[in-house]
Amino acid sequence: MGMMESLAQLHEEAEARLKKCDTPEELEQSLVEILGRSGKLTAILRTMGKLGKDERASVGAYANRVKASLEAVVAEKRAALNAIAKQKRFEKEAVDVTAPGALNQPLGRLHPMTQTYREIRNALVGMGFSMFDGPEIELDDNNFTLLNLPKDHPARDMQDTFYINDNVVLRTHTSPCEIRALTTLKPPFRLMMPGRVFRVDEVDASHSPVFFQIEGFVVDKGLTLGDLKGILDSFVHTVFGPDVKTRLRPSYFPFTEPSAELDISCSICGGKGCRVCKGTGWIEILGCGVTNPHEIENCGYDPHEWTGLAFGLGVDRMTSLKFGINDIRLEYENDARFLRQF
Ligand code: DAH
Repeated sequence: MGMMESLAQLHEEAEARLKKCDTPEELEQSLVEILGRSGKLTAILRTMGKLGKDERASVGAYANRVKASLEAVVAEKRAALNAIAKQKRFEKEAVDVTAPGALNQPLGRLHPMTQTYREIRNALVGMGFSMFDGPEIELDDNNFTLLNLPKDHPARDMQDTFYINDNVVLRTHTSPCEIRALTTLKPPFRLMMPGRVFRVDEVDASHSPVFFQIEGFVVDKGLTLGDLKGILDSFVHTVFGPDVKTRLRPSYFPFTEPSAELDISCSICGGKGCRVCKGTGWIEILGCGVTNPHEIENCGYDPHEWTGLAFGLGVDRMTSLKFGINDIRLEYENDARFLRQF
């Protein structure tokens, strides 16, 4: 076979082979084998020395055309294979931003106390109450004296107190916020004052040295105990449901006159009498009353003109009642097995 025929055959075979390549690797490998230094075309060209001058020129020119033609085929094929590879990579890496999220993601949830707190808060917001904040480290004056509990008052014993010094305490209740409200805001107002409070108590199923209260405080002209009952009924029905009954039971607090405790019909037995309500059918949920005139006066207002209504409740206790939790410690330990139930 003459060199021209060999070249023509090589051209045909090589072109077919190059066009059949499926991957960039295969293409590059074929390229080396055909056009590389020890490739087939080179091998043919090496024998050109034996040819005469004229024939060498025409064979050389033809060989260059074959080479150029094959290089063009390679370039085109390379581009096509790269495009396919790129497309495949895009398909593999593509993110469908409209796809729904993976199912069964473990969701966090609200602590039962947070749930209860928010229900109370929302019920009060619905009645036009706004937030008011006071410090956890409080003056003895605000925590006791101005609330009508002077230093020697026996009712101070109701709340075992952490003293920082003679004049400063960890607040034992949220009631000192009432003093701060009366001395910094202008009545009329409707306030809720949530926060942590502190008492010297051993931890047990119903006691914790730190717990969580919400104080409600309304000051206006011409308020009555009936207004207080209306407010409390409304929020009890929001938090515990519309069928729960309420009653005000006379009680004593130095900062209210008259004072009362609010009972709700036992949510466990529905009022028939059980262990939780100790057979009475009623459960005490908060202390309340009409603000003692001394407190109003202590803050510089005329008690004949301004009336206060107040109530204070324990969010942890409300949570226990709402969810039937029989040990307050569970609410503070944050054991995931407990929290997962709510
Ligand atoms: N401060 C009281 C306590 O911690 C609760 C309380 C009772 C608050 C009667 C009030 C109230 O505002 O009027 O035991």
